[in-house]
Amino acid sequence: MIVYFNDKYIPHEEVKISPFDRSFLFSDGVYEALRTYNGKLFRLQDHLERLKYSLQELEICYKDFDHLENIFTKLSKINNIKSEYSVYLQISRGVSFPRTHNYENNLTPNVFAFAKLIKDNSKEKNFGIKVILEKDLRWLRCDIKSTSLLSSVMANQNAIRNNAFEAILFRDDIITEGSHTNFFAVKNNKIYTAPLSNYILSGITRKVILELCKENKIDFSEEHIKVSDIEYYDEFFITGTTTEVTPVIQIDDCIVGDGKPGNITRSIQELFFNSVKQV
Ligand code: PDD
Repeated sequence: MIVYFNDKYIPHEEVKISPFDRSFLFSDGVYEALRTYNGKLFRLQDHLERLKYSLQELEICYKDFDHLENIFTKLSKINNIKSEYSVYLQISRGVSFPRTHNYENNLTPNVFAFAKLIKDNSKEKNFGIKVILEKDLRWLRCDIKSTSLLSSVMANQNAIRNNAFEAILFRDDIITEGSHTNFFAVKNNKIYTAPLSNYILSGITRKVILELCKENKIDFSEEHIKVSDIEYYDEFFITGTTTEVTPVIQIDDCIVGDGKPGNITRSIQELFFNSVKQV
């Protein structure tokens, strides 16, 4: 695979980075994950806005936003990718020596990106998935898309170990989001998802779903979903760039409804897939 690394397009085996890069020592970096529909980068501006926000919150000095679209499309061309692909972009604060917790403001970020074919997830989208509930052990700045993801990694690993697709995280009695997705619930035809705050990532797919709800006059509320209320909801689904809209049919050992994706979830999927067809 040919990847992008600091202005060069090189085979992935040839990327060399100092162990003093702060993303290696401190997870001191940010990332974005995007995808294409009809060969076009979906909601690129939204992803760039979120990237700017993450960089700004961490005071990482990167400004070359205008080059990113070119980099992403070039990666797909160089790698001869002919169908829909996803792109991963990571920007670290850069190398500082010797290791100190505090940082200088003049470091040069290391920029890394690669593109790959989208994995087929039609089975999960059609039949639904199992999720597990896990304590949210992440830090209190989940609004920053930082590469510091160890508790998300552990939560998702635990999900896989339990034959589930995703871990849904909770703080006290409040459900925040998934380890790498946003979480939605449905009750009496109304859609619920956690409000934007430092406890969740402002998902681009989440934003698209709420826009679609508005346009199509589907009732929704950005309000907390409680673990103790979970049995009162009719349907659940998760959203994300590659997960899109995936129905949840089992939470831990409890089957949701009749164990099949619910009607509202199906309508949201339909609205979402119709809208991305038109981009
Ligand atoms: N994950 N919440 C978290 C914690 C996430 O990591 C993600 C994305 C989302 C969904 O955001 P979006 O709709 O913008 O993809 C919600 C990416 C895909 C990842 O970690 O690879």
